[in-house]
Amino acid sequence: MSERLFVFDTTLRDGEQVPGCQLNTVEKIQVAKQLEALGVDVIEAGFPVSSPGDFNSVIEISKAVTWPTICALTRAVEKDIDVAAEALKFAKHKRIHTGIGTSDPHIKYKFNATREEIIERAVAAVKYARRYVDDVEFYAEDAGRTDNEYLARVIEAVIKAGATVVNIPDTTGYCLPEEYGAKIRYLVEHVDGIDKAIISTHCHNDLGMATANTINGVLNGARQVEVTINGIGERAGNTSLEEIAMIVKCHKDINIETNINTQKIYPTSRMVSSLMNMPVQPNKAIVGRNAFAHSSGIHQDGVLKNVQTYEIINPKDVGIDDNAIVLTARSGRAALKHRLHVLGVEMSQEKLDKVYEDFLKLADKKKDITDDDVLVLAGADRNVNHHIKLEYLQVTSGVGVRSVASLGLNISGEHFEAAATGNGPVDAAIKAVKQIIRRQMTLKEFTIQAISKGSDDVGKVHMQVEYDGQMYYGFGANTDIIAASVEAYIDCINKFRK
Ligand code: KIV
Ligand code: ZN
Repeated sequence: MSERLFVFDTTLRDGEQVPGCQLNTVEKIQVAKQLEALGVDVIEAGFPVSSPGDFNSVIEISKAVTWPTICALTRAVEKDIDVAAEALKFAKHKRIHTGIGTSDPHIKYKFNATREEIIERAVAAVKYARRYVDDVEFYAEDAGRTDNEYLARVIEAVIKAGATVVNIPDTTGYCLPEEYGAKIRYLVEHVDGIDKAIISTHCHNDLGMATANTINGVLNGARQVEVTINGIGERAGNTSLEEIAMIVKCHKDINIETNINTQKIYPTSRMVSSLMNMPVQPNKAIVGRNAFAHSSGIHQDGVLKNVQTYEIINPKDVGIDDNAIVLTARSGRAALKHRLHVLGVEMSQEKLDKVYEDFLKLADKKKDITDDDVLVLAGADRNVNHHIKLEYLQVTSGVGVRSVASLGLNISGEHFEAAATGNGPVDAAIKAVKQIIRRQMTLKEFTIQAISKGSDDVGKVHMQVEYDGQMYYGFGANTDIIAASVEAYIDCINKFRK
């Protein structure tokens, strides 16, 4: 019989730490319910002491989700643990995830402490957390660069103190797969009482080795993997859930199984990408747009003769269905509702009516409505409370002429207009916005997401604007790419703190 591998999803904690990916509580609940449907065992819902928003999200996710364990992150600090325990009070199954840095750079520069003091703090934190919950996970931050002998001493001490799961993060993404696997094996072989705890992997992708390291950890005895949807996470990201789930599914020889319903992988990936405004790279394994697109003649010929020639995964196994009903202007509410359901979005009849209305307007402009379009429409009301709104926009541009833009903004109910010329239509439109807003802000990044289906597709724009020493992230989506750019710019401004 296969051994069970527990899947710990940290999309809503490590993933959500990415600048520009922040979700509100309603969106986090939507993702958490989708993770539950996907079959993850543990949802890391936040770091409650870090902000009232995180605290509240852990409370609301705890209420909304039934069977996965809800986990809250803390430092090895009593106050953090008190706040996490409070945030978890409604969770049916709860876990506190506490820990401390164990590598020499962390001990010396972050804590100005000695190795012995770190062990004392780790043990005290675990014991303190056990006063609140039976399930305590300990993380040895930067374990990837911690020497194995000392790491084994730390892990042995925290298991004695009551840790039920021990997390061995490669925080900086430094380890080689062999090295990380050997580290896990070393702990299996040298820690007294290791059988009383589950060993967990937590790998970052700085050198592109997160998945390889995680799998090597599993092959050497880890039985929990910490992952995120689409591999999102700080810097180069975390190990991606879909890659690990499909590796163990494809490689029956490993003799390990997860509880993941793989057919829900693709809808979950789309939902997270859309809510976090974080595009998935086209060649991303499992969920990228090109992951199953055979373009070379030799491959196409082989696949047409027999799919097994070049395909190791049936796209249907990850929830990609080429025969899915195509939505067009003639589709009814029921078809739209079904598509939203497949994508993990449930909504009230009232909201469905509004989304359907927008859907028909969009379907008038473009032939086929993609899953991305549907998700953008479902999230279109996230700007309703913004105090600055674009009322109209007119742009003239062309070759050999200077672009001119005129636009109207509604700012807290008052109407403002401006016109400007610029070095291209977006430049002109942004200058017009600046004439009205009159703040010292600098556009730092401007990304137009690749349009996948044709010239009538919805263009998506991500922007970063620096204002008053802070960076703000904005998003816009529109079949008119200039309008999407202005929306993204205004989205940033709406987020300014003063
Ligand atoms: O990467 C890391 O070390 C972490 C810990 C806080 C678990 O995210
Ligand atoms: Zn991490």
